[in-house]
Amino acid sequence: MKKIFMFLSLAALTFSALADEGMWIPMLLGRNEADMQKAGMRITAKDIYDINKACLKDAILLFNQGCTGEYVSGEGLFLTNHHCGYSYITMHSTVEHDYLTNGFWAMSRDQEIPCPGLTATRLVRMEDVTAQVLDGVGPETSEGERATIVERNIKRITERAVEGTHYKAIIKPFYYGNQYFMYINEVFTDVRLVGAPPSNIGKFGGDTDNWMWPRHTGDFSMFRVYAGADNKPASYSKDNRPYKPLKFLEISLDGVNEGDFTFVFGYPGTTQRYVTSDAVELAANIENPIRIDLRTIRLKHYNHAMNQSPAQRLKYASKVASIANGWKKWQGETQGINRLKGVEQKREFESRYQEWAKDKPQYYNVLPQMHEAYDRLRPIEVELTYYSEAVRASDLMQRAQAYRQLAQEDDEVSAVGAVNKLKEANDKYFKDFEQHTVVDRAIFVETMLYMWQAGYAPYLNTKTGDRASVQKQLEKIYDESLLNNEKKLRSFLDSYTVKSGKKLMKDPAVALFDQAYTLAYDPQKLATYRRAYADIQRLMRTYVKGMMEMQPDVNFFPDANLTLRVAYGHVEGFRPRDGVYYKPYSTLEGIMQKENPDIYDYVVEPKLKELYALRDYGRYGITTTTVDSTVIENGNETITNYTTHTSKTMPVGFIATNHTTGGNSGSPVLNADGRLIGLNFDRVWEGTMSDLLFDPDYCRNITLDIRYCLFIIDKFAGAGHLVDEMTLVSSK
Ligand code: ARG
Ligand code: GLU
Repeated sequence: MKKIFMFLSLAALTFSALADEGMWIPMLLGRNEADMQKAGMRITAKDIYDINKACLKDAILLFNQGCTGEYVSGEGLFLTNHHCGYSYITMHSTVEHDYLTNGFWAMSRDQEIPCPGLTATRLVRMEDVTAQVLDGVGPETSEGERATIVERNIKRITERAVEGTHYKAIIKPFYYGNQYFMYINEVFTDVRLVGAPPSNIGKFGGDTDNWMWPRHTGDFSMFRVYAGADNKPASYSKDNRPYKPLKFLEISLDGVNEGDFTFVFGYPGTTQRYVTSDAVELAANIENPIRIDLRTIRLKHYNHAMNQSPAQRLKYASKVASIANGWKKWQGETQGINRLKGVEQKREFESRYQEWAKDKPQYYNVLPQMHEAYDRLRPIEVELTYYSEAVRASDLMQRAQAYRQLAQEDDEVSAVGAVNKLKEANDKYFKDFEQHTVVDRAIFVETMLYMWQAGYAPYLNTKTGDRASVQKQLEKIYDESLLNNEKKLRSFLDSYTVKSGKKLMKDPAVALFDQAYTLAYDPQKLATYRRAYADIQRLMRTYVKGMMEMQPDVNFFPDANLTLRVAYGHVEGFRPRDGVYYKPYSTLEGIMQKENPDIYDYVVEPKLKELYALRDYGRYGITTTTVDSTVIENGNETITNYTTHTSKTMPVGFIATNHTTGGNSGSPVLNADGRLIGLNFDRVWEGTMSDLLFDPDYCRNITLDIRYCLFIIDKFAGAGHLVDEMTLVSSK
């Protein structure tokens, strides 16, 4: 009995989309409408996506190529995460005007700062173009021919679709090329920074709290899109006017309760829901541990340096943020996969697939062939992982790559250009060389040593072949390289001609990089890798098609591919481990509990503390009233006295069961009426395996409560004029 039960529950996980799992295509949302309404939604699928009238879709934008934003005013004002706007906030920061540390608020339109290179893309409409894309592809068409035909068709279809318009068209494959959708987009390029909280609000908790719940990060920033006089995209001009979006989001001040329906509307980047057991094994148990170990080494040294001085903290901050982001996520992912027995689950599903495919020759061979392709791919994939996480870890090796390139340059004019670039880079690099080289040397030696020990750096051959001698060799390379000698390097570059290339290649660091590169990027090896990868993609197409035939009643969702999607679920806490229950929301009290003036990540702004002390939350806080009664007996009379207590709290974040991934950062989290209640910005650590496997008990997205965001803008920053542009709705 127990066995059968196990089998059924595993089957449920691998077979079909679970409750709350899925990132759905807006155009096809009609298929989910009944389910969404049953879950509490009070609007219709057409309110979310409709090509005949303005709808919620028109309020959503793709922020560059990796985050989501949403319009909150009729004047082009939009919200996204602080970590999405990060590089633009940094770009405009100087020591005198450190917007990153202190925050930035445009108090009038003319203070808004242009952000060259930043784009805000609106989806105009989408279309299923599968038939047109596959026009000319038949059962006999070879893979090579198929690729050529598809490419040609895509070019023709997209060109025709936007002819005579200012739109851009893009076609993306779904389900590994079983389906194709075309996206017609409008790309705005005059985007200006309007507001950002100080780092100790926008990044409160830093990397310590990253990927974790309970969370207290005020992860938002604000921008405004400007357009030409015709409201169409225009490149920056001071004559441009605020863009008038077809739709902007109304904001609900009602907040959320546990169990409430929510949905997330944005641009998830990548998921791999349908891959085989081999792929899950490779990612979770082979690649992730390598990456984690090598990044642990780097983080140890950077973190140590960052604690030495504010200057070093600034120097490494953004590098460490990105190294640590993956490092932490992969740990959660691997643990989650193993807790779920993800590999076994997949194997079990695969054996049922084989059983089903027994009499279907087109499907029967797919899995064995894919298994064989993974055997070809795996060793090279592992080698490339070492290459990217160890060889590319130190500045010395990254610089060596540039010098190797210079050494191979045989055109004198190009060489001069390259030399000038390197000189410029060196001016910066050698500024704080004394401090930095301690960090970089340790990272170089330890990462390369780790790679050597794993057997992936055979070129580090010493006579005795023991660890201590390899370490010595690496230290010697670091200390003797010309690249680490400012004076000698300068005079070498000053007199550089293409004839100097030979000498440069003999530099120990350049020579080492050359060996590592030549081994990793051996052309034959790369060809094998590419072939294996292409085979897997082609086989996945058939495998997934079979999966759908095998389960005709299941509404499959396509893997995330940075196209607009809807995920829905409800507000819910979870039990991360034995004996612990996490409530679904956090408050300003939690910020005060975490406060520690000695730890960078937990410094609280005096102004925020002041507002907290006064409970001065304006209309954004929650007031709870409790009534106490005391009964007094007086002879045969009883008197009841009532005293009321009111307490005020400021909500900060909440979690829900929406299926999200990287790219969903900044996505609006909406309530049953389609009103904005928060900004998505993270997932809980215990649920990060959801890119591969979704588990409703553990997978939660983390949302910044919109009320905290408005409170910071209005009460903390005194930028109430920005809130005045918005439409706030309260049922109370
Ligand atoms: N984990 C979030 C995401 O994947 C936030 C990352 C930025 N924040 C940070 N502390 N590094 O984008
Ligand atoms: N922080 C992520 C982003 O930048 C979102 C978190 C996730 O991966 O779900 O998109």
